[in-house]
Amino acid sequence: MRYMFISATLLSAVVSSQLVLPLLRGHLTPPQIRSHDGDQIPMRMDPAGPGPAIPPSQPAPERPSSGSGGDVMLSDVMGRDRTINLFAGFVRDIESASNRLDDASKNTTVLAPLNSAIEKLPRKPWEDPRDYGALGPNAYEGEDGQDRAHRNLRHFVEAHMIPLSPWPEGKNAKAIGDDQTIWWEVKNGVRLIQPAGIEIINIVSTVSNGQVWIIKDVRNYA
Ligand SMILES: *[C@@H]1O[C@H](CO)[C@@H](O)[C@H](O)[C@H]1NC(C)=O
Repeated sequence: MRYMFISATLLSAVVSSQLVLPLLRGHLTPPQIRSHDGDQIPMRMDPAGPGPAIPPSQPAPERPSSGSGGDVMLSDVMGRDRTINLFAGFVRDIESASNRLDDASKNTTVLAPLNSAIEKLPRKPWEDPRDYGALGPNAYEGEDGQDRAHRNLRHFVEAHMIPLSPWPEGKNAKAIGDDQTIWWEVKNGVRLIQPAGIEIINIVSTVSNGQVWIIKDVRNYA
């Protein structure tokens, strides 16, 4: 029971990485795939064994959003880069976050940590040692527990969303729901989110309501 929430999240990450992305890239997107509810994503297993059901194709050209005015949104491109698909899965689990990335009137710089950064965390992003301290090992069981995990995951996701794009070098900013002032700068040829010194590896998408930056480590993880 304890792992229900976790496995749903992981399942959605696996489904999106292995099955849905190739579909999206191949323009075969049935309408329900855009849903934020991972349960509606049709499962298509490859009888030949594990791995993508469809070989990964070339990245598709920017495709018009089904939503507003034909502009491509962050929500359309979050799932494109497989090296950040764990984070993209978390965003899909948090409705307010995915709504923002689908909102043409709100720009966002998404700081998407590499899968490897999330995998090496000592705890899952929705686990908070204070919850275990206060509530014991069953902290994430039952309906309250799921709500708690969801709230923690929302904080984690929002700590990686800057409500500003373009985000100029040296400009102070704050992530959504976060009090810490941060900025970025180039130091010895490396772009760093400061003051934590998190390396910005690449800017992978620039679309009408913002950019997706891949970062090497997670933010705000005590
Ligand atoms: C939002 O982002 C777009 C695309 O980068 C940019 O043209 C526009 O000026 C930005 N809007 C604001 C309010 O920053």
